[in-house]
Amino acid sequence: MAVVFYFSGTGNSLDVAKQVAAVFPNCRLESMARYIAQPYCIQDDVMGFVCPVYCFDLPPLVQKFIAVLQANPKYCFGLVTMGGNQGRALKHMQLLLAKKEIQLDYADAIIMPDNFFVTPPAKARSMLIEADQKLQSILTYLHKRKQDTTQCEEKTLWKYGGVALGWWYMRNILNIEKLELDFSKCISCGKCVKVCPVGNITMQDGKPVSGNQCATCFACVRWCPKHALKLGGKGASDKKNYVNPNINIQELFSQEAK
Ligand SMILES: Cc1cc2nc3c(=O)[nH]c(=O)nc-3n(C[C@H](O)[C@H](O)[C@H](O)COP(=O)(O)O)c2cc1C
Ligand code: SF4
Ligand code: SF4
Repeated sequence: MAVVFYFSGTGNSLDVAKQVAAVFPNCRLESMARYIAQPYCIQDDVMGFVCPVYCFDLPPLVQKFIAVLQANPKYCFGLVTMGGNQGRALKHMQLLLAKKEIQLDYADAIIMPDNFFVTPPAKARSMLIEADQKLQSILTYLHKRKQDTTQCEEKTLWKYGGVALGWWYMRNILNIEKLELDFSKCISCGKCVKVCPVGNITMQDGKPVSGNQCATCFACVRWCPKHALKLGGKGASDKKNYVNPNINIQELFSQEAK
């Protein structure tokens, strides 16, 4: 038996996770956010993780997930999707797993369109083709249970303060967890509420209101059909937006922590 855990805002990581899960017989696909809400002891021999890179690191939600994880797999792998630089995300995953006495056997990073500094459409299309080529090789490696963690090597910049400085800038200068709504654009469809993996948005008097649990995944901003939301001042428009074309919004609804 196998399990692949995922966290995804705009679908890149879910797209990868779905294809990876298909490699293993009897493989479940599970949301990390849901597992955090209801952790249980994992009995599977094969366990994998797929998530985005945030600020050259693992998203805080993924760090929280590993902290509550109960598992003892025979083969464990981690994949991150990223706009271009994973920093210390895979190293951090390896270290956090080691604290739980879980050995990471295979780790890799896949460049995909960026959902933060939005990749222009033509470039995004060519990036997705290249990402698919890389993923096909990774699927072969995983099928053979390859051992390779060379991607976990950490550069000095990330080890000594680069990540902390990045998060400080995102939180204090960009105000990355602050969600703003343009009331004139919002049609009260509730999609932002359903797509939020951590239940951070509720509807009050027909309009979305943000709590203080934002996981900065940008799902609400990028999937809003009217581009009515901004996070840390970053919004979307018809010309400047990105969601993974192989994933539909409903697939992300099931990610929500219940
Ligand atoms: C808050 C935030 C921070 C990000 N930081 C990085 C980064 O440091 N390096 C990078 O290569 N991509 C970064 N990205 C881009 C995402 O990692 C990338 O687009 C990823 O594939 C999105 O995955 P998803 O579609 O599954 O949410 C960031 C995205 C967000 C939302
Ligand atoms: S998804 Fe957009 S339009 Fe729909 S309720 Fe949320 S903010 Fe309003
Ligand atoms: S509020 Fe938006 S950005 Fe924050 S976790 Fe929810 S969907 Fe993601």
